[in-house]
Amino acid sequence: MWEKKPVLLMVLATAAILVGTIVTMVMPFFWVNSDADRIESVTPYTPLQQEGRDVYIREGCNNCHTQTVRPLVAEVLRYGDYSKSGEFVYDRPFLWGSKRTGPDLARLGGKYPDAWHYKHMDAPRSMVPRTNMPDYKWLRDYPLDPEMIRRKMEVLGFPYSEVQLSELAAKNEMDALVAYLQKLGSDIPWREAAKTEIIGELVNPYAGIDHFAMESWEGLYQNNCAACHGEHMEGEIGPELIGADFEESDLFEIIYNGIPDGGMPSFSSLGTDKVWKLTNFIKYYNQGEGQH
Ligand code: HEC
Ligand code: HEC
Repeated sequence: MWEKKPVLLMVLATAAILVGTIVTMVMPFFWVNSDADRIESVTPYTPLQQEGRDVYIREGCNNCHTQTVRPLVAEVLRYGDYSKSGEFVYDRPFLWGSKRTGPDLARLGGKYPDAWHYKHMDAPRSMVPRTNMPDYKWLRDYPLDPEMIRRKMEVLGFPYSEVQLSELAAKNEMDALVAYLQKLGSDIPWREAAKTEIIGELVNPYAGIDHFAMESWEGLYQNNCAACHGEHMEGEIGPELIGADFEESDLFEIIYNGIPDGGMPSFSSLGTDKVWKLTNFIKYYNQGEGQH
C-alpha cells in the first residue's frame, strides 16, 4: 500500500497537514480581521486605561478573573451579553484567562461607580465580607510615568494626545486600574438592551405585611445594598433611601433591572421573590412605628 511508496506517502501526508493548517490557522486570520468582525464603537485604550491594563497584568489579576463571557445562557444571565471577537482587537495580549476564582470581568465597565471600585480595591472585605481577593490599597502610592506610557502608546500604535499624557502626572496606579476596569466591555451598548421586559402587571405578593415581619429581610439589604446605600440607608456611593417615595412597581423595576449607566447594578439574579422582599423592606420598613 501507500507505506511502501515513500514518495507518494510523503506527498499525501504533506498535503493532509497543509490542508489542516490552512483551515485551522491561516483562514481564521482572515476571518478575525474581516470587516464583518470589526465593531465601529470599539476604541483603543487611552494612555490612562492602557497603564491600568499593564497594572492588571503585572498584578496577575487574570489568575483569578477571566475576561470573556461565553455564549451560554447561564453566563449571559450572570454577567451580561456574550463577548464578541471584535471587542478584543486592541487587546495585546488578550486576557481571556481560564480560572475563575473571582467573577468574569468582561462586562464590568459601567456596572459600578468609580467610588465603588476605589473602595473595593482598597479593601475588598469592606464590601464583600467573605471575599479572598487581596487588598490593593498600596497602588495609590505609585504615581504614573508619562514618558514610559508615551513609549508604550507608540509601540502599540494607539492614538494619544499631549494633554492626556500631561494629565497622567497627577494620577497613580489605582486611578489607572479603575479607568481600565470601567472600559471593560462597555464599548458596545449592551446594558440597555439586556434590560428584562417585565411582562404583565406587577403584583406585590407581600402587600400589607406588618413591618415587624420584615425584620428578617434586613440581611438581604445588608448583603446586597448596604455597601453603596449605607448600613442605615443613609446613602454613600448611592443615594439615601430612607423614605424612598417610589411606586412599588417602579421600585421593583429599579432593583430588578438596575439603572444602566447610573452605577446601580441589576439584581435580577436574586430572583423576583427576594426583589419583592427588598422592595417592601425599603418602602415600608422605615415608615413603620417601630423605626430604628
Ligand atoms: C485570589 C484571587 C483574586 C485576585 C488575585 C484578584 N481578585 Fe478580584 N475578586 C476575587 C473574588 C473572589 C471576587 C468576588 C468577591 C468580591 O467582589 O470581592 C473578586 C471581585 C472583583 C471585582 C468585582 C467584580 C464584580 O462584578 O462584582 C473586581 C472589579 C475585581 N475583583 C478586580 C480585580 C483586580 C483589578 C485584581 C488585580 C489587581 C483582582 N481583582 C485580583 C478574587 C481575586
Ligand atoms: C454598586 C453600588 C450600588 C449597589 C450595590 C446598590 N445600589 Fe442602588 N443605586 C446606586 C447608585 C449609584 C444609584 C443612583 C443611580 C442614578 O440615579 O442614576 C442608585 C439608585 C438606587 C435607587 C433609586 C434611588 C433614587 O433616589 O433615585 C434605589 C431605589 C436603589 N438604588 C435601591 C437599591 C437596592 C434595594 C439595592 C440592593 C439590592 C441597591 N440599590 C444596591 C448604587 C448602588
